[in-house]
Amino acid sequence: MRPSRPTGPLVALVAAAALAIGVGVAPASAHPPHPGHGGKVPVATGYGGAVATVDADATKVGLDVLRRGGNAVDAAVAAAATLGVTEPFSSGIGGGGFFVYYDAASGQVHTIDGRETAPAAMRSDAFVENGVPIPFADAVTSGLSVGVPGTPRTWATALEQWGSLDLRRALRGATDVARRGFVVDQTFVDQTTANLARFSAFRSSSDLFLRRGAPPAVGSVFRNRDLAETYDLLARKGVDALYTGRLAEEIVRTVQDPPVRRSSPLVVRPGLLQLGDLASYQSPLRPPTLVSYRGLDVYGMAPPSSGGSTVGEALNILEASDLGDTTQTLHHYLEASALAFADRNRYVGDPAFVDVPLEELLSDGFAAERACLIDPTTALPKPVAPGAPDGDYAACETTAVGTEGTDGQSTTHLTTADRWGNVVAYTLTIESLGGNGIVVPGRGFLLNNELTDFNFTDTQGGVDPNLPGPGKRPRSSMAPTIILSDGAPFLALGSPGGSTIITTVLQILVNRLELGMDLPAAVAAPRATQRNTVAVQAEPGFDRTALQALGHTFVDNPEIGAATGIEFLDDGSLLAVAEPVRRGGGSAAVVARGR
Ligand code: GLY
Repeated sequence: MRPSRPTGPLVALVAAAALAIGVGVAPASAHPPHPGHGGKVPVATGYGGAVATVDADATKVGLDVLRRGGNAVDAAVAAAATLGVTEPFSSGIGGGGFFVYYDAASGQVHTIDGRETAPAAMRSDAFVENGVPIPFADAVTSGLSVGVPGTPRTWATALEQWGSLDLRRALRGATDVARRGFVVDQTFVDQTTANLARFSAFRSSSDLFLRRGAPPAVGSVFRNRDLAETYDLLARKGVDALYTGRLAEEIVRTVQDPPVRRSSPLVVRPGLLQLGDLASYQSPLRPPTLVSYRGLDVYGMAPPSSGGSTVGEALNILEASDLGDTTQTLHHYLEASALAFADRNRYVGDPAFVDVPLEELLSDGFAAERACLIDPTTALPKPVAPGAPDGDYAACETTAVGTEGTDGQSTTHLTTADRWGNVVAYTLTIESLGGNGIVVPGRGFLLNNELTDFNFTDTQGGVDPNLPGPGKRPRSSMAPTIILSDGAPFLALGSPGGSTIITTVLQILVNRLELGMDLPAAVAAPRATQRNTVAVQAEPGFDRTALQALGHTFVDNPEIGAATGIEFLDDGSLLAVAEPVRRGGGSAAVVARGR
């Protein structure tokens, strides 16, 4: 079954808003610098391939690759590398991510696990001092939270497996943007301002991102020649140049002896990373998660991400439920999210260390058992207990109650498609906005603080699957998702937002598949996120009244997620969609416009 594109008041409103700012491909800049975040258009429809990212430069670079005959994988790597320049606080070669790829020739979906990895010296109590967890803020800005970056290896793996360009050519556009510069917009200034205290603490970070101690001005040109040189190095020597040799030594030195100014009040703990950790890093291919939802095949990212398992379990719960009207659909969306998060927290971690019952978590029997807990008339008290994915699903069962860990709010998602029908959904991150705040001196990129995605202490009564460990990958929430209908692409999407990634992807799917919205409306609609907490977090525009009557309580969250996606329409055209407003709005483009 392939849901048709509905029309209606909300659809018309979003379409009108998109038209007002000029739907289609942003005009290519004839002269340097690149246009920066300005000139973004969030919706584009057409043929020949598409790119959707949060940033006009990244979308343009990806589109240029498609126009010159590159495929969706080439465009995804090129766009991701450009995001490392123009959105350096959300992603970059100091971080990691998850790459989901639909291969049109074989009809198969593949994934790459480019998750950052803990050093071999990391123990389960690495974030505990004198018997108590260290303050989360201290861990955020530290060497201790730095995992081995996975992004460079992910790019190399993707290009080797499925690309048509080599790394040198895939990095060319991004290197050009880094060298020539781009125009700073308000979002870049806001994100720099949010990091002012941290960047000021490190000479390498303030030298790169600050101008006389302040963020660069809106409209000024931002160049990152150090990153251009680093990209040149990777282009010449391959990504091994980051995992071994001088650059690897500089990364290790930065982690073990963070270049914090003596005058800084920040307590910056050194990290455990060693050269051997970098040299041994792998970005393995993993089988995707797969659930069937109303006849559609929904592919996602398997552990160590919890994205595929949690979105998949929640969809199964929804399919096992009677959704009814809009209020009941949203009530079930919130309840299914809470139930699936309880199970995620209890069971999902790095599969090299934890026996994740993935098959049972994604089974219809388990979903039916969880769905039978939902009362259409009253919200469940939160937090709910995890279920028992044990293959025995005769009755509704529960076990002990757990609590939710903490997740960051950074990250970025891009979606690409090419003329041959290949599709990429790629989410990447350096964890916090600004990662650990530390630029590798002279190299032009920030390091991640991904190891803060581990739980610092046991949250699950002695069975926490997400405690630190040597060589372990912290559990992620990244949920790059590709959906097939009758074996052909129907929808690809993803979002940033820490653990809200999961509910953002799920809510967009509910909006699109159950509530009659088209994709631009589904992405734009106000969001709510229930991650098994007492109160639901909701954006101000989310209509709460009918759900409050069912017992849901709400707290405000000003902005949840910043998604991108591509829908493959019945007439063969592509509908590329980015956020119209959140995070300053995203950028969608197609190779050839029209329907
Ligand atoms: N760092 C965000 C995530 O992996 O979910």
